[in-house]
Amino acid sequence: MANIDWNKLTFSYTKTNTILKTTFKDGAWTPVESLTDDYLSLSSYAGALHYAIECFEGLKAFRGKDGRIRLFRPEENAKRLIRSAQYLGIEAPSVEMFVDICKKAVLENEDFLPPYEVSGASLYLRPTLIGSNPQLGVQSSKESTFLLLCSPVGAYVGGALDAVDVVIARNYDRAAPNGSGAFKVGGNYACSLRSLNIAHEQGYKAVLYLDPATKTHIDEFNSSNFFAIKGNSYITPKSDSILPSITNMSLETVAAHLGMTVERRPVPVEELSTFEEVGECGTAVVITPVHKLVDKPFLESDEETVYTYGDGQCGPKSLKLYNYIKAIQRGEIEDEFGWIVYVD
Ligand SMILES: Cc1ncc(COP(=O)(O)O)c(C=O)c1O
Repeated sequence: MANIDWNKLTFSYTKTNTILKTTFKDGAWTPVESLTDDYLSLSSYAGALHYAIECFEGLKAFRGKDGRIRLFRPEENAKRLIRSAQYLGIEAPSVEMFVDICKKAVLENEDFLPPYEVSGASLYLRPTLIGSNPQLGVQSSKESTFLLLCSPVGAYVGGALDAVDVVIARNYDRAAPNGSGAFKVGGNYACSLRSLNIAHEQGYKAVLYLDPATKTHIDEFNSSNFFAIKGNSYITPKSDSILPSITNMSLETVAAHLGMTVERRPVPVEELSTFEEVGECGTAVVITPVHKLVDKPFLESDEETVYTYGDGQCGPKSLKLYNYIKAIQRGEIEDEFGWIVYVD
């Protein structure tokens, strides 16, 4: 096992044993290579570098209570990557190939898979697909290179389940109406950076975007979906400009299983004052509870409306959902929805 202080891991890069690489060219994928060097040899003219012909995924491998290694719903990530690649007009690996390469990456980097005892830590997998042939004109790349990167990670922001303050920046969008918001393409993240940097300077952990067409409804955060709890309901936005989060899908299933009502529907901004619990959800930490949500007409000005949820801890209903998903991921309860793919 690698010499790592597993309890101190954050969401950041650690060099692991290998990255895996395969390229689609002349109608077929090349044999998967294991590279010990993270640096690629790539044409300076690759479409990924000029026109953001790039999409990616994020999923995790966990060591379970029984010692077995589990991937959480990797087929869903594979399907989402295929959708993102179709949006960009490039070739993506099949679901089966994607899952096989994920398993191979975990096995080659098992030294970096945190032990079961460190509950907040896991091996994060970053499947990445780039347009890689030399080109000058704006067009979908004929050749695409698929990389499987991985890194051991801990809590994304602060400790797991520490509540955060977030901001609605009404004068910024991460995605255009009828644009790329529902796909996991790198360009969306570039578009979120300016507002995210300003928000960070102001002490906020994340930016919550409104629907870009009308600015009347909640969309999602820069790197996670939005959910709220009201009474016995789990409420999450329905919108064409948000990423279909696999964590959110899973939370909806668990909420219904636990007897909650699941409402996926447009969520008007005015409803923010009626929620009992609000949170971010995503692969990084499953749930990050939101403490203060600040709505600013201009991110750069002082005018604001503040909504406060709970007392800085995770609310009881969010915590119950969080514990359920974590228990499945860590092999502590039965995988009754068939979400786990074993690596070994
Ligand atoms: C913009 C955005 N929304 C939502 C999510 C959550 O998706 P998932 O639960 O599949 O990780 C992510 C990534 O984690 C994201 O980058």
